[in-house]
Amino acid sequence: MPDLEFRRDLYHGAARDYDRYRLAYAPALTSDLARQCGADGSGRLLDLACGTGQLTFALQDRFAEVWAVDQEPDMIGVVREKAEAAGIGTIRCLVSAAEDLAAPGEWFDLVAAGSAFHRLPRETLAPRIFQWLRPGGCLALVWAAGPTDGDAPWQQAVSEAMRRWRARAGTEDRVPSGYDQDRAARPDRVILESSGFEFAGRQQVLASHEWTPGSLAGYLFGTSVLSRAALGDLAAEFSADIERAVHACDPSGRYPQPLNFAYELFRRPA
Ligand SMILES: C[S@@+](CC[C@H](N)C(=O)[O-])C[C@H]1O[C@@H](n2cnc3c(N)ncnc32)[C@H](O)[C@@H]1O
Repeated sequence: MPDLEFRRDLYHGAARDYDRYRLAYAPALTSDLARQCGADGSGRLLDLACGTGQLTFALQDRFAEVWAVDQEPDMIGVVREKAEAAGIGTIRCLVSAAEDLAAPGEWFDLVAAGSAFHRLPRETLAPRIFQWLRPGGCLALVWAAGPTDGDAPWQQAVSEAMRRWRARAGTEDRVPSGYDQDRAARPDRVILESSGFEFAGRQQVLASHEWTPGSLAGYLFGTSVLSRAALGDLAAEFSADIERAVHACDPSGRYPQPLNFAYELFRRPA
């Protein structure tokens, strides 16, 4: 089945908010991932669709070389800035669609895709990732819960506000039609196993976070469907509406959420 096509400018204008408001992966999860992959400081990591480097920076000290790749130039700009500010010289920052990346065969020990594999052309990429990995190397699909994962009244209010604002901003079509059916019909694991990967396990770590109205709006500004660029002049009104919506459920201004971070590991057979 052919891959669904996503717009390439989905995250245009979202990088600063993404970097500021996206929650870091639980350190226990990234440490466990590094251990499972046998990362000992000598290998190479490819962070595919890296955003502003949520996995790049969490894992960089366990690898000798890191490629941070994203198709959105602003995202890579932030990775470059942060690497320079931290004096890290081992990160190679590349603006490229994952499917256009030119990388040598059998080069990487770990390819990681954080909260991104579902937005990539999975059928096209699976055999390429397989080739980029050395035999015995790993692909990790890493996932994080977002603020609307849950059914607390404030979460339902945020989901409802998002629906209204996506309609108002005209971003309802940013996820191609048939997306949910496609993922159900072709789970990631099926696609990866048919390219030769072996499933090597799943790990999850539970954490918690307390949102405020401001951090909720900020998180949503970092998404592809409600970025400041997508909302344009409506951004301030949107932010005020999110605040109103959550206050109506709970005027405390504090919105706690149990969070689930997870990764699924796939191995290229040795
Ligand atoms: C939800 S963000 C994930 C960012 C980061 N990996 C993380 O773990 O938070 C999705 C990222 O995928 C990037 N992206 C989407 N499609 C892509 C593609 N085909 N090639 C490269 N990057 C892509 C977007 O620009 C965005 O930065």
